[in-house]
Parts: sequence; structure tokens; C-alpha cells
Amino acid sequence: RKFVSVNELSQPEYRDQVVWVRGRVHTSRAKGKQCFLVLRQQSSTVQCILAVNERVSKQMVKFSGNVSKESIIDVQAKVVTVPNKIESCTEQTIELCIEQLFVVSLAKPQLPLQIEDASRPENADDPEGLNIRVNQDTRLDNRILDLRTPANQAIFRLEAGVCRLFRDILTAKGFTEIHTPKIISAASEGGANVFTVSYFKESAYLAQSPQLYKQMAIAADFDKVYTVGAVFRAEDSNTHRHLTEFVGLDLEMAFKYHYHEVLHTIADTFTGIFKGLRDNYSREIEAVNQQFKAEPFKFLEPPLILEFAEGVKMLREAGIETGDEEDLSTPNEKLLGRLVKAKYDTDFYVLDKFPLAIRPFYTMPDPNNPIYSNSYDMFMRGEEIISGAQRIHDPDFLVERAKHHGIDITKIAAYIESFRFGCPPHAGGGIGMERVVMLYLGLDNIRKTSMFPRDPKRLTP
Ligand code: 4AD
Repeated sequence: RKFVSVNELSQPEYRDQVVWVRGRVHTSRAKGKQCFLVLRQQSSTVQCILAVNERVSKQMVKFSGNVSKESIIDVQAKVVTVPNKIESCTEQTIELCIEQLFVVSLAKPQLPLQIEDASRPENADDPEGLNIRVNQDTRLDNRILDLRTPANQAIFRLEAGVCRLFRDILTAKGFTEIHTPKIISAASEGGANVFTVSYFKESAYLAQSPQLYKQMAIAADFDKVYTVGAVFRAEDSNTHRHLTEFVGLDLEMAFKYHYHEVLHTIADTFTGIFKGLRDNYSREIEAVNQQFKAEPFKFLEPPLILEFAEGVKMLREAGIETGDEEDLSTPNEKLLGRLVKAKYDTDFYVLDKFPLAIRPFYTMPDPNNPIYSNSYDMFMRGEEIISGAQRIHDPDFLVERAKHHGIDITKIAAYIESFRFGCPPHAGGGIGMERVVMLYLGLDNIRKTSMFPRDPKRLTP
């Protein structure tokens, strides 16, 4: 048996040929001597018909009408051309005339959610409330079915694209992919939001980031490294953009003269990712837009870079009171995003030179003005997607800064020691993958871009 995929069926070579197709029963309805069936494969569908004739019995037609939705079936069928049913469309479309049908895997007859309901456009006009909407918890509780909708199929293919582009772009720039431990002996981003796990007779932590280890790889002479992996945060934040486990796209790079060499490398990587998505994922973007409408994502080339103090100035001009050394609150971050968009027409920008007081202990102060630091965040549609900085590579200064942050330096002794054998100046950053995809597509919740999201209230499926 040679199987043909649904999206290949319209190729001329299959016209009037008998082929085998494996797919899911999207819908099925027997009426008298005929059964009408829609077969689905990922996001592609094809109409099928099964009619009583010398090869197909009445019982066969009845049986086919009763195969439950979402079951997987194999059909042997003739590919025929029929007029397209859409009005004012003169094109022909193809249909399958089924000769044999086998059930490969039967789905439960009662589905906890219907794929059509889960695929309905959000915010579509529905004055009479006839469209059944599926709420987020029902979707996530039944994620295997929910993931079969065209929008979800597209989201996770595009997400794979983001990781592939990240890897390809950095590989082309001479980076080496590394893998860092996820079970660690000390918190890398400070104490508060770390998960403790029992480790034989001791306690260990789940890594809040690959921070310390990617820097140690630089000290070990790898020069430019990146890593893609799980990051854990014990944050009891039930928001649209926090998960307790997410995928971190992290990078770290030695530089010669100025940390902006690294900042530009990261910003260019984003430009490359945005272009790659625009050029190679238009079908996925369109499929997501069909269900979740959003403005197309805009970016400038080269990206816009502003200093933190300029951002504060823009906020103050808009009537917001915010201190020079105060972090941006989520509403202020979003407002600044709107102000930047209105002024520069971009959904992506870099904010450089954050106040030192609000950055982690390993951040290099700005040598020209120590209330600031050589650190940066990048934003998409007014939300932070990466934070990064030049790191302190002088071990004695690192000890001083760690103590200033109240960190027990005996816990990070191996990290500090790694800078005692010579280490080049370096900088890097950590990106939240789910946030990038959420914001690129203009989605409203990070759970939509995590295949099996983990948050303070959800540990299954
Ligand atoms: O800002 P964060 O905590 O920075 C670090 O982890 C540093 N080690 C990075 C560096 O190299 N200096 O996290 C980095 C990014 C954030 O910008 C955000 O996109 C994402 O990780 N992120 C989260 N994503 C989902 N859920 C959460 N709870 C997140 N916390 C951070």
C-alpha cells in the first residue's frame, strides 16, 4: 500500500487514481445509501464519499457513518475532481470515492471538546451566543484534543521555527551549543523563586537559568555559547506571562572592546528570527490569525536601541511618576511599548543601561555612572522577552557584589573560582521562548504557546 498525504492529493498524477490515505475522521454522516466523511491530517482536510455499489455494501456505509470523530482510519479511494462548492469560485476541488475503509484506532465516542468549537475565531461576532466557546482550562485539561486545532498546529510549528532559527543564526555566527545542568547546588538568580528537590541525603535546586554555567563555559574558553533548555521558577505569579517551567534560549559571548558587540549580536539574532518567521512561516501565521486576530508584528532594521533614562523620560512626559532607579512595572513597560510604537513604528526595541540596583549580582556596573549598569532588556509589543548584561569577570569584585546582595558566597565558590584562572570580558542574555512566540503572534496568554504549561495551579497533563 502506498499512502498519499492529504495535501498531495490535488497533484495531477493522482487524478482518477486509486490511492490509500490515513487520516482522522473529522466528521462523518451516513444518509441512506451514502456516507459523507471529512478526513483530516494535521490541518488539511478532504471530503470523502462512500456509496453503496458492487464493492461497497449497505452495512459498510452504515458502519462508516458510525465511526466516532477523531478515530484514525485507512481508506482506499479513487481521487475524483468535483466543482468547488464555494460560491463564485470556478476552481475544481478533489474528493475521495472510498472503496475500502479500515479503522486503525478508534476514538472514544464522547469527546470532552469538539475540534470545531476549539477552532472558532475568538472575538468573532456572535450576538445570539450560538458559537460554543471553549474556555482555557477545558482546553488545557484536554490538551491532546485542543492541540489538534489548526491554530495550535501552527503555533507549535512556528515555535519549532524560532528554536531552529536561533540555533542556525548563532551557529553561523560561530557559537557552540552547550548543555548545562538543571539540578544545581545554589540558586543562580537569587534565593526567592527557586524549587528545592531532595538529592539523596542533601537538598538541591532546579536551575532558574543556565547563567552561572554558561559563564563558566566562557571561562573554559568556548568563546561564544548558547543553550536551549528548561528553566524553572518557583514564582506564585498567576499572570498571562509567567510559567513555573519555560524554555530558555540563552547565550553568552566573550567580546573585545565593548559589551555592545554582544548587544548587537543578540539584536541581529532577533532580526534574523523575525525575518525567518515572516518569510517561511506565513501559512502558520495566517492559521493563527484566523482564530486569534492580531496586528502584524513590526520591526526595524537595524533595531531601535534606547537608553533606560530616555525611556523614563518618555514615561514622565506621558505623566507617569517613576524614579531614576526604579524598575519598570508591567503597566509602565506596556505604556512605554505603546509610546515607542507611536514614535518609531516598531514592536521590537532594546532598552540599554538599566539601573544597577535592580539587576542581579553578576551585572557589570556602568564605569561612567555607577548608578547604571552595562545591562539591557529587549521588548516585543511592550513586554520583556530577554534580559542580559555584561558580567563581572573579576573574581574579587564578583565576591564584593555577591556579598552586597546578601548571597552566601560559599554556595557559589566553584563559580567564583572559575574566574581565577583568567576569563575574558563577556556578556549575554536569556530569552523566554514562549514569550517570544506569544508576543510575535499577538496572543494574550503564555499558556497558548506552551504545549503542556506548568503554572502554580497546573501540573498536569
Ligand atoms: O529576566 P530573567 O530572569 O533573566 C535571566 O534568567 C538571566 N540569567 C538572563 C541573562 O542572561 N542575564 O529571565 C530571562 C527571560 C525573561 O526576559 C523572560 O522572557 C523569560 O526569561 N522569563 C519567563 N518566561 C516565562 N515565565 C516566567 N516565569 C519567566 N521568567 C522569566
